[in-house]
Amino acid sequence: MNRPVGSVQYNNQGRVVIVTGIGGGIGLAIARAFADSGARVFGFDLNTDAALPYSEVIEAIKLDVSDFCQVDKAVEAIADKCGGVDILVNNAAIQPIDSFKPLHEMDPALLKRMLEVNIGGYNWPAKCCLPHMIKQQIGVIVNIASAHAAHSSREVPGYGPTKAANRMQAIQWAIEYARNGVRALSISPGAIDTPMVRASLEMQGGEGALANRHPLGRLGQTEEIAAAVLWACSPGASFVTATNIDVDGGLGGFGAFADPYTMPEKYTGPGRKNT
Ligand SMILES: NC(=O)c1ccc[n+]([C@@H]2O[C@H](COP(=O)([O-])OP(=O)(O)OC[C@H]3O[C@@H](n4cnc5c(N)ncnc54)[C@H](O)[C@@H]3O)[C@@H](O)[C@H]2O)c1
Repeated sequence: MNRPVGSVQYNNQGRVVIVTGIGGGIGLAIARAFADSGARVFGFDLNTDAALPYSEVIEAIKLDVSDFCQVDKAVEAIADKCGGVDILVNNAAIQPIDSFKPLHEMDPALLKRMLEVNIGGYNWPAKCCLPHMIKQQIGVIVNIASAHAAHSSREVPGYGPTKAANRMQAIQWAIEYARNGVRALSISPGAIDTPMVRASLEMQGGEGALANRHPLGRLGQTEEIAAAVLWACSPGASFVTATNIDVDGGLGGFGAFADPYTMPEKYTGPGRKNT
């Protein structure tokens, strides 16, 4: 029996939106959803090829979000051209295959890069957009964090902690600028079908196992994250700030994010090791 499921429509006409990481799965879906609802959308990425087919509605700017000067220049150009910035979605982040290692085995240069991109690359766009939002006395910042921000698995010593920082960055900014009309929050996806996740499927036990860790029994779609972002930036969420929204198919409700250890052949019973 088909039951009605309802529908949602947003009007973002005239709003100026910046989305980082529009060359990837989630960022591009967010930018497209804003464009479809009438916003003027600018996208930052090191590689803007994926946004090429949408060049009429998404203005792609090639830059490195971890470089303050590049971000500052781009944000000022956008604000000059459009008269302000209404929404920032921090989304560009990295989780390279080589980062799936315990901390003591991790390449220090890679760990440093993850901190620069995943934390610095969220700070700089916010730092540059905030003066405009304060001047306007209105603005919304959404940080795309991760289920890994609050629930961990093994071998994510770079990724998990940086995603936790994204949650706290949003809370910090929300508290600081609440009286300036600025809302800030984070959205934490479960596993979403994107190039980032496809690249690391093997490390995460394969698609079936990863999907099965979500009570809904599947990977999420990029549009499902975009839908949450559009709501978070809408007047419908006007009393929502300094918080996190899990969009994770129920993943966070489970006690364990992943099978944490290889099953021992034999349970050795209670007692303390290492004493
Ligand atoms: N896919 C998932 O399952 C999942 C789950 C939880 C959280 N997330 C988060 O969602 C966000 C997007 O993830 P995704 O899966 O779409 O990733 P993705 O790898 O598909 O896209 C990320 C984009 O960011 C860009 N980028 C990377 N470093 C950059 C830099 N220094 N400057 C500018 N652009 C840069 C990349 O070029 C890429 O286009 C990330 O913050 C990620 O942590 C993803």
